[in-house]
Amino acid sequence: MSDYIDTLLAQLDIIPPMPETSVRLTQLLSDSSSASMEEIASTIQYDPSLTVELLKICNSAYFSFDPKVTTVKDAIKRLGTNKIFQMVMATSSRKALDRELNGYGMPLGALWSQSILCGAASKKINLALREGHPDIAFTCGLLADIGKVAMHQLVHQNREQLFGGLKQGNAPYDQIEAQFFGINHAELGSRLAERWKMPPAIIDAIRYHHNPAHAPEETRPIVECVYLGSILAMQAGLGLGHDGMYYSGPDDIDNTYGLNSSDIENISSQTLEEFFEIKTLFGQ
Ligand SMILES: [Fe+2]
Repeated sequence: MSDYIDTLLAQLDIIPPMPETSVRLTQLLSDSSSASMEEIASTIQYDPSLTVELLKICNSAYFSFDPKVTTVKDAIKRLGTNKIFQMVMATSSRKALDRELNGYGMPLGALWSQSILCGAASKKINLALREGHPDIAFTCGLLADIGKVAMHQLVHQNREQLFGGLKQGNAPYDQIEAQFFGINHAELGSRLAERWKMPPAIIDAIRYHHNPAHAPEETRPIVECVYLGSILAMQAGLGLGHDGMYYSGPDDIDNTYGLNSSDIENISSQTLEEFFEIKTLFGQ
């Protein structure tokens, strides 16, 4: 069993690291709900390639800004901190997430789409529940399944045994991974976020996104947003992998989270709107 854990932890090395600038931004935004525009702009400007990428997106046909956006501060003024932060995180994580995952039956682009969808849904739920930190909720949802990148090859090699387990229908897929490998994609992803020195809320949201009841009390509210966001993203069925149909949502979302069916409908349509906007900005 430990052989699998060691192999999977070693696989984390193949995932392109999150740029230091993006990690610093997540720390800045999770420590304070009112980070100033100057602080955010100067943090982004510290990274020339990220700045170039960001200005390219801001000057895309989608926004049609005239005159064009020439500085990060200008971009924040026109689009707002929230949108800029989302673009930075999506840009920074794309190399890691935009890849084919054989083990999960996800062609190139599927994990990337599903992650953007989960980020947008987690953020909309965070806003609906008024939990604060919608920007961080987006990042948590975006990175929730990053552990699959390190796990998919072993899942592929052992698909007979794993999918045999699925047929029995007696456990959600993350539990089958944990039983078989000694670690699941959620725990694996959280170890990566720890290596990157992400804030505790992001580490916990990745670790417990399928089991929010196990999260520490301090971070449970944001973990629950990502748990629900992940369910909504799977229900949307865009870029869903083999495992997608083996997770189920809470039995009583209304009484547990105070969201009725009309709230869920609104959140779902806002999520899709944001998802398609982000995809368009990235030329997809
Ligand atoms: Fe997951």
